[in-house]
Amino acid sequence: MNKSTIISIAKNFLRAQIYRQNIPIVVSWAITYQCNARCQYCENWSYPHEQELRLQEIMAIMDDLATMGTAVISLTGGEPLLRPDLGEILDHAARRKIYVSINTNGLIAQTRIPVLKKADRITLSFDGPQAIHDAIRGRGTHDLVLKAVESLIREGCVPAFNTVLTRMNTGHVDDILKTARQYNVKVAFQPVSLCLLESKKENPLAPIPEDYQAAIHKIITAKRKGNPHILNSLAGLDHLARWPKPTAIACSAGKVHFRIEPDGLMTNCSRQFLSKSKQSQNADIRQVGVKKAVTQMRVSPCCDCWCASTVEMNLAASFNFSGAMNMLKRAGGR
Ligand SMILES: C[S@@+](CC[C@H](N)C(=O)[O-])C[C@H]1O[C@@H](n2cnc3c(N)ncnc32)[C@H](O)[C@@H]1O
Ligand code: SF4
Ligand code: SF4
Repeated sequence: MNKSTIISIAKNFLRAQIYRQNIPIVVSWAITYQCNARCQYCENWSYPHEQELRLQEIMAIMDDLATMGTAVISLTGGEPLLRPDLGEILDHAARRKIYVSINTNGLIAQTRIPVLKKADRITLSFDGPQAIHDAIRGRGTHDLVLKAVESLIREGCVPAFNTVLTRMNTGHVDDILKTARQYNVKVAFQPVSLCLLESKKENPLAPIPEDYQAAIHKIITAKRKGNPHILNSLAGLDHLARWPKPTAIACSAGKVHFRIEPDGLMTNCSRQFLSKSKQSQNADIRQVGVKKAVTQMRVSPCCDCWCASTVEMNLAASFNFSGAMNMLKRAGGR
């Protein structure tokens, strides 16, 4: 991330604070629900995908976001690499000087290296040793994700891992950190959600709380000892150590960070999209435009904030020093 982007983020944070303005500085954008995997803990792939925004609409929304102060877009899904126009989306973000990170399962990354190289940061899902990763994400996926990491590093990219802690991998923190060290990548940890997202069905992979506690404390100890491969901040890890106990956090979703679904629905946070009771917060950008969607959004905090990047953003926005520094480091892909 270059200096001018960092200055613009800092200025917009202050503006949002002083003038009590909503500014979409960071936007998490699911550009498709389509997916080439069926991970045991995720149901995003099953959401309808007929009404996805077309390239022209995405570019127009990006223009409006850039004008309103967006500095960072995190592209997610579904599997964002399945969008054939991903290269054009990234080119347009670059034209608007927006820093873009992509979350991917890495399955087809090898075939899309030139496109991935246009992103500022690439985060690959990595759930641990081969047997575990493959059991959660499908046979052969572990090898594919590591091959993707090798290719990306060879091409000069700086990939990172996102690891979801489940009942299958809480006992494998050391192995995960060892792999991160072997490839010299950083890894962000987060607990799996207690429910399978929209359905509210109990998540079969939710860890046993005692096992989770042991895992997260091992991560905290490693971080305190200076392990350079852990992406979460200490403050972020301290928050995650409260899982699954309902825990408040200074929420800034709908104030400085926003979420867009593939059909153009804007929400303050992906959790609010999934919570039926909060759907009055949501605004269809196709109907009302970006400006109105942003300005009418309200913060509606919950006590269930466990996504690593969201926790770090909330900490940074509340001027938590460790969270703010960490957010900048997370963005430091290139
Ligand atoms: C929804 S995926 C989309 C991007 C891409 N398909 C991938 O798997 O990386 C984004 C991240 O959310 C994580 N995730 C999916 N379901 C989850 C759940 N139920 N609880 C916590 N994290 C979850 C995934 O492991 C992944 O790292
Ligand atoms: S976690 Fe990612 S790869 Fe797995 S099913 Fe969900 S969207 Fe697809
Ligand atoms: S999960 Fe809850 S507390 Fe966290 S950002 Fe979203 S709405 Fe706010």
